[in-house]
Amino acid sequence: PFVVTENCIKCKYTDCVEVCPVDCFHEGPNFLVIDPDECIDCTLCEPECPANAIFPEDDVPAGQEAFVALNAELAAAWPVITTRKEPLPDAADWDGKPGKLAHLER
Ligand code: SF4
Ligand code: F3S
Repeated sequence: PFVVTENCIKCKYTDCVEVCPVDCFHEGPNFLVIDPDECIDCTLCEPECPANAIFPEDDVPAGQEAFVALNAELAAAWPVITTRKEPLPDAADWDGKPGKLAHLER
């Protein structure tokens, strides 16, 4: 499956959700995740993310391996999102900032 990684946190652009044919994005307060049991590896969401936060499970950036399990865990807890909405207010400022995992809200 594909995985949403750290740079989504505090940005949440949501462009990704519109293209998913199987509605496998789930929404939390400041982050989205992909349900690994539903993702069919179609690849459509990856280029849609303005923050380049989506990667195949086998290709997540070094140091972000924990996001594989985090997507599975949070997908089970958060509701599905299928319609794009406005990004978080300071998305442009947070895009690319390191250490965003510390800001994840559950
Ligand atoms: Fe959905 Fe395809 Fe992205 Fe998987 S790879 S989350 S199926 S758009
Ligand atoms: Fe997050 Fe990118 Fe989607 S910032 S909400 S993974 S478009």
